[in-house]
Amino acid sequence: MARHLITSALPYINGIKHLGNMVGSMLPADVYARYLRQTGRETLYICATDEHGTPAELGAKEAGLPVAEFCAQQHDAQKAVYDGFGLAFDHFGRSSSPENIEITQHFARKLNENGFIEERAIRQVFSITDDRFLPDRYIVGTCPHCGYDKARGDQCENCTRVLDPTDLIDARSAISGSSDLEVRETKHLFLLQSKLAHEVEAWVDEHGTDWPVLSSSIARKWLTEGLHDRAITRDLDWGVPVPADTWPELAAEGKVFYVWFDAPVEYLGATKEWADQDPDHRDWKSWWYEATDVRYTQFMGKDNVPFHTVMFPATELGTREPWKKVDYVKAFNWLNYYGGKFSTSQKRGVFTGDALEILPADYWRYFMMANAPESDDTSFTWELFSATVNKDLADVLGNFVNRVLSFSRKRFGDDVPAGSEAGEAEAALGREIAELLAEYECQMEALQFRKAAQALRALWSAGNAYLETKAPWLEIKSDPDAAALTLRTAMNLIHLYAVVSEPFIPASAAAMRGAFELADDNATWVTSDEAKSLSFVPAGTPFTVPPVLFAKITEEDLESFRERFGAGDGDA
Ligand code: MF3
Ligand code: ZN
Repeated sequence: MARHLITSALPYINGIKHLGNMVGSMLPADVYARYLRQTGRETLYICATDEHGTPAELGAKEAGLPVAEFCAQQHDAQKAVYDGFGLAFDHFGRSSSPENIEITQHFARKLNENGFIEERAIRQVFSITDDRFLPDRYIVGTCPHCGYDKARGDQCENCTRVLDPTDLIDARSAISGSSDLEVRETKHLFLLQSKLAHEVEAWVDEHGTDWPVLSSSIARKWLTEGLHDRAITRDLDWGVPVPADTWPELAAEGKVFYVWFDAPVEYLGATKEWADQDPDHRDWKSWWYEATDVRYTQFMGKDNVPFHTVMFPATELGTREPWKKVDYVKAFNWLNYYGGKFSTSQKRGVFTGDALEILPADYWRYFMMANAPESDDTSFTWELFSATVNKDLADVLGNFVNRVLSFSRKRFGDDVPAGSEAGEAEAALGREIAELLAEYECQMEALQFRKAAQALRALWSAGNAYLETKAPWLEIKSDPDAAALTLRTAMNLIHLYAVVSEPFIPASAAAMRGAFELADDNATWVTSDEAKSLSFVPAGTPFTVPPVLFAKITEEDLESFRERFGAGDGDA
């Protein structure tokens, strides 16, 4: 059976991310990894902070800290939020780690040995005032295509076109604002992607056939537009140093690799960090080198797709070593905020840290996955959020759990009641649950998260329908044994929900499961037969009634959220 390697796009180190970032990368990866683990597959879920490049240096400058210190702080701050969201990484590493430096340098040496790296002298913008080169985001100016006046040297945020710093009109330094700039010659390493283009194309042809359209269409578009040679070094103080054994002159000048060269390598680097931590962990290389038994799935937002489907595979292919390449690229569209963009720079939308301050993680996890931007962009609105939480979580699931357990306790005491033998209604319910469970599994295997959430909700609804039909509050008057059977069956549903809902709502699932004092609750998943018989929790099992699982969001709550987060105003 295949082992599963899972990675989600590495969040940039600068600042706490917004929900739009999490919904397209870490959260679905976590849901999928949890599902795989629960269904008995050996799984490794790796993520890390992306710590190099201009976002890190500029973030540190804004915070008034040395870059290394800034990164260490921000890494811990992000990790704390992800813990709060219940993201169960096997390892959450750092791209500035010694492991990543070592592997990145190895990749560069191999690419060089194979003739895929060339040193070229290029003309770069130099700031006299700052006494340094201004690569990428260090330079801002007016976009030559759309006229946006805060375009960055690497890309225009407004029209999304990729730019070269020398394209900008009225360019100025992002550090000092100075426009005392000149163009100077400097040497850099170029990755000769043009030489690898055909191979990458053949690789995409062979392996990209079952990818979602979003991923394969972006990959094709990039390949059609042509794979150009690309500078993979920068004149910066912070980054993976160019190895002196191979490029003594560039190393002496203090050149470092470009952030997009070392960041994907950190998927390997973080695996090594993980393996180095504990002698019981499988060797990192077994996951990456000649790893023919590994199925590798990546999660990312659509802006990251070219780097993962074309550029990083090109890098891996060029090493001429058998590094594991991605098998399945799960990409996401944007989650918007009232139709406009979530924006880190404009502080628009909901940030993950703030989200946890107002409501528990499971509310967000369920909402985001049930509305995941899989086939299209979707919009976050407080109205949609509260409607989803109130209906699906509070009414359908939470209310069922609470009603069943409190009613049973009131009528039959602290143990699961026995009652009559299961009858036709229970058999029909069992068949329905088994079918819905199969549908849920099928959608999870296919990484269709919205549909999986729908199937999960249908499982919860089936319990409600059963309860309404059997009406134990009426049965109790004429036939207490019949009422007891209904409640025992419903309690088995609660346990089943606890097990199968865990990937989406792990904390609430634990609370549901914890309601039953089973001697040996080793269930990790539910088989079809178990779903049909609904008898995992036997009569006589002691139980407790957990506190309300999901509180409804009230009109007053909504009002205060809208006020705090500025719903719907601005440029939406
Ligand atoms: N930090 C990048 C972003 O947020 C993603 C890097 S993914 C990696 O867009 F693979 F390169 F690490
Ligand atoms: Zn533009």
